Amino acid sequence: MLYIGLMSGTSMDAVDAALVQFNQNSTQLLAYEEYPLDPGIRRGVRNLSGASSINEVCRYDAILGNLFAEAALNLIQKAGITPDSITAIGSHGQTVLHLPVHDYPVTIQIGDPNIIAYKTGKTTVADFRRMDIAAGGQGAPLAPAFHEYLFRDNQRQYVILNIGGIANITVLPAQPDIPASGFDTGPGNGLLDDWNHLHNGTDMDKDSAWASGGTVDQALLKQFMADPYFDADPPKSTGRDYFNLAWIRSQIGREGGNIESRDVMATLLNLTINNIVTAIGRHAPDTQTVIVCGGGARNRVLLAQLKLALGGRQIITTADKGYNPDAIEAMTFAWLAKRRLDLKRGNLPTVTGAGKEVILGAVYQS
Ligand SMILES: Nc1ncnc2c1ncn2[C@@H]1O[C@H](COP(=O)(O)OP(=O)(O)O)[C@@H](O)[C@H]1O
Ligand SMILES: [Mg+2]
Repeated sequence: MLYIGLMSGTSMDAVDAALVQFNQNSTQLLAYEEYPLDPGIRRGVRNLSGASSINEVCRYDAILGNLFAEAALNLIQKAGITPDSITAIGSHGQTVLHLPVHDYPVTIQIGDPNIIAYKTGKTTVADFRRMDIAAGGQGAPLAPAFHEYLFRDNQRQYVILNIGGIANITVLPAQPDIPASGFDTGPGNGLLDDWNHLHNGTDMDKDSAWASGGTVDQALLKQFMADPYFDADPPKSTGRDYFNLAWIRSQIGREGGNIESRDVMATLLNLTINNIVTAIGRHAPDTQTVIVCGGGARNRVLLAQLKLALGGRQIITTADKGYNPDAIEAMTFAWLAKRRLDLKRGNLPTVTGAGKEVILGAVYQS
């Protein structure tokens, strides 16, 4: 009945660990902890993107496997339960490559699950994305199936908005015969973190304080928005392989390059908001309520601006539904581990574009 979900997202801020109880009619988050990645490891993992050596990737596969195992063990201790009561651990891993549209589509998450299974003594499920890729899907986003499980309501249409490093939406129509849909809208906090770190050396621009003192450069915003990703139809998913500092630099280069760094930040914040608003306007215009989760739900300025841009729609966070917004992604992988062990399918082909529903994840036992 008890599952642990482990997640380290594209922000690489922390290993998120959720202890979840699944009952017939309820899902309860019993404990949630975040174990921050130390700056050296964060930097090391970030540098894996691009042309790093296979040795370095494999080294971090083992380093992160150990960190994920420790996170699970610490969570068990913190929650005051015995390991025996845990059925399994679902570990997303750290994405180091996500190229779903490619001559040979691929996505790779590292953090060796053998180490997690061995060190914790618990059945571990990992490698959730690649069966969907094998089935012709994007392998992402996977959270919409869990959002549907938690929040679908036949009285009202909801959009679940996850603002992590990348932002994604899940549309949950009220009519039971219309399938859920969803996709990555584009950058969430990721570009904001990168640009802020470059200029201020800090991990994040808390409550967009720095961005708020800048002015949106309309020409640059237009340039950003012209990127073909934003206009492309779903299914679509993206990551740091595409939206990164090099992407910002190439866009600024085209715009002349004389824009104040703070104004670039204000423009990037606007880009995140614009993409979300456009996606909802285009794919879920009838939505009355948007439920926000992910680290971005803690950014008060981002939420306030989003509220303004979404007009009359109600904006709440998953906290209003009883779930810590930071925990939803880790909970997703606890749920997907359960689906795997129950031999139930985990993907939504309407979201990922896979040829059919498939069972996600591989099982590791020591
Ligand atoms: N108060 C805040 N103000 C601004 N940004 C915040 C705040 N709290 C969290 N964040 C952002 O949330 C990010 C972490 O979000 P998270 O959902 O963990 O993303 P991921 O799933 O990609 O790891 C941080 O890197 C930061 O950018
Ligand atoms: Mg995170």
